[in-house]
Amino acid sequence: MIPVADLTEAEAVQELTRLADEISRHDIAYHQHDEPEISDADYDALKRRNTEIEARFPHLVRENSPSLKVGAARSEKFGAVEHGVPMLSLDNAFADDEAAEFDARIRRFLRLSPTETVGYTAEPKIDGLSCSIRYVKGELVQAATRGDGRVGEDVTANVRTIREIPHKLAGSGWPDEIEVRGEIYLGHEEFAALNAAAAEAGQKTYANPRNAAAGSLRQIDSAITAARPLRFFAYAWGAHSQPFAQTQWEALQKLKDWGFQTTPQSVRVENAAGLLAAYATMEQVRPHLAYDIDGVVYKVDRLDWQQRLGFVSRAPRWGIARKFPAQQARTILEAIDIQVGRTGAITPVARLHPVTVGGVVVVNATLHNADEIARKGLRVGDTVILQRAGDVIPQIVSVVEDEPRGPEPFEFPTHCPCPLHTELVRETTAAGAETVVRRCSGEFACPFQKLAHLRHFVSRRAFDIEGLGEKQLTTFSEKGWLNSPADIFRLKDRRDEILTLDRFGETSVGNLLASIEERRNIELDRFIYGLGIRHVGETTSTALARHFETVARFVETSKLAAEQMAGPLYAELSDLDGLGPTAVSAVLEFARSGQGLLVPPDLSLEARLRLAIPKLNTKARAALEARFGDWASFEAGARQAASEIPGDAFLEVASVDAVGVVAARMIAEFFAEDHNRALVEDLLAELEVKDAERPKTDTAVAGKTVVFTGSLERMTRDEAKAQAERLGAKVSGSVSKKTDLVVAGPGAGSKLKDAEKHGVQVLTEDEWIALVGA
Ligand code: IVH
Repeated sequence: MIPVADLTEAEAVQELTRLADEISRHDIAYHQHDEPEISDADYDALKRRNTEIEARFPHLVRENSPSLKVGAARSEKFGAVEHGVPMLSLDNAFADDEAAEFDARIRRFLRLSPTETVGYTAEPKIDGLSCSIRYVKGELVQAATRGDGRVGEDVTANVRTIREIPHKLAGSGWPDEIEVRGEIYLGHEEFAALNAAAAEAGQKTYANPRNAAAGSLRQIDSAITAARPLRFFAYAWGAHSQPFAQTQWEALQKLKDWGFQTTPQSVRVENAAGLLAAYATMEQVRPHLAYDIDGVVYKVDRLDWQQRLGFVSRAPRWGIARKFPAQQARTILEAIDIQVGRTGAITPVARLHPVTVGGVVVVNATLHNADEIARKGLRVGDTVILQRAGDVIPQIVSVVEDEPRGPEPFEFPTHCPCPLHTELVRETTAAGAETVVRRCSGEFACPFQKLAHLRHFVSRRAFDIEGLGEKQLTTFSEKGWLNSPADIFRLKDRRDEILTLDRFGETSVGNLLASIEERRNIELDRFIYGLGIRHVGETTSTALARHFETVARFVETSKLAAEQMAGPLYAELSDLDGLGPTAVSAVLEFARSGQGLLVPPDLSLEARLRLAIPKLNTKARAALEARFGDWASFEAGARQAASEIPGDAFLEVASVDAVGVVAARMIAEFFAEDHNRALVEDLLAELEVKDAERPKTDTAVAGKTVVFTGSLERMTRDEAKAQAERLGAKVSGSVSKKTDLVVAGPGAGSKLKDAEKHGVQVLTEDEWIALVGA
């Protein structure tokens, strides 16, 4: 390399171009893909050489010079921004009748008379990434990605570079404070140009415009974002200090007046027929648009109705996304590989000859399980039909029979592909029936399982540890430094050893250890989710965290639950479709009392159940008939279940909203294993687990247990329940001495009597509404 002092001007021009390209390439590898290709020292040397040349030839400083970019960029991460109002997602619908069902559901919920029409907006569903931008007194002050819906990443500097997002709101009438929401996206042409440039520079290309938009926005260096022609459509809002519209349609108009782009294809329609017509139109215009849309979003137009409809878990009741159907393509199945999941579940993965489906190059597809391979009759070498439905991983739909077939049927391996070659076993249900899932029996001894477990532990919705990706986990595990999640928090003691590894420089190791330290203080729901217990997903983890509030309570109760676990038949009965909690207790009570002997023997099981257990409804009787077939098996089963009734700690876990007996058994089984208990203890020694956030406490009904009974006239039961829960109350189905309030409408019966018996306060619907201030 020519020393800087000896460069001619022509050589300097060339050299600055080369350096700008190279530095930008490493920026991208580092920030976007978490895959640094050179050490930090080498990177710094490139930057230094660039600066030295610029110092000698100041007139040659390029507009996109690496020296003009934010210097500390490499070590800075995005700050966290808590959304004023969570950013939720929409439920999906795929078929015509689901639009009608949506309309019907809305009408039922709002109790509309048949003559009343519901107005909707039908908007194109822009395929980009959503963003929330906070304006105070009309000034852009902060912008955040969706993140996990509650907390997003601070991308303010980057969003400021997007021309279609005003720094100052135009017009008038905007609330003093408002979070304007919408989609950041990249047009087809801009996407193609970006990829062409990347390909030319030998850089990685993006799979689709959405990834490109996300990658472009999530740049530490906003100069890179600025160079990408990102665009924005506004279609929603979060927290706002004053109401500013009565309908979604009016709100869209306002957003436009304030200087935002809104989707020109949006329309206002009425009824299910209007929804369908809007979908048909959108499907027709789709190929002519300059950007990707992946469906239509329907929203109830009236905002007061939206308010009443509210939310169910992660999605609003007032809106739904109707996705365009999947896109298909043909290709060759080149191989079937086996992957091992964190719980040892074995997933076959199809390796495909690369093919474009709906604009995305596909090389892998999931096959779910061995039976699916057998059912579809897949052979390596077959020509297959592939399909992508929205965002989901591509699937193999079928084999093309007319094309030459692969030589032989696929034989599913009997042993784990890991170095231990542990035997695979078929998973069984709680009741002992075999399922289609195969598992590696190696548990923690299996290196593949361990790795998958760690991957889950550090993943975004669990501990969310940045810089600890697949590669790093694999390397550290192979070195023997990571055997359990707690080891992650001990990596700091290996700083010097890590520094000796390729591609780990002072800065990157510093960043990694810092992001690990940041997570030493962790929310209880993330902690629970991070344990990776089967059937304990995010919603369940949140519910558990809210219920137990402290990690100590959660762990103690789970350990006790492990000693008092429900037996398999009890679990199966509790989980049987058609059998509610009342029916289950009726069956168990019957089994204990042994009254069955009095029932005439020559009747069908259905008829005998009707006589023996009058509390069972038709559905429950049918469910039991289907499960047991005859009286003798039923009686034996019910007795067995009655002997398997779990203890209080188990019941406490199972009774938490969204948990249930099946997940409770998984939790109990997890804590029944010595090594899992040790793993948890070990982890807790490293961590500070924050107590869970309590539900709202500043309302008149917060923390109270409420029972609704009788018919309500100003709102439906669902609506009342949703409202009460929103205000921090717990809604229960039965009255006990723990009940705080009973809201009784006309026709209230036994629950009202129970309330009197327990001395529980009873309110009319109007009194309730006055109390909660609705
Ligand atoms: S409204 C409560 N309107 O689709 C959610 N979303 O699954 C309100 N999207 O996260 C979202 N176009 O990223 C809405 N016209 C539109 C949209 C739209 C695209 C995206 C958005 C959201 C996802 C919902």
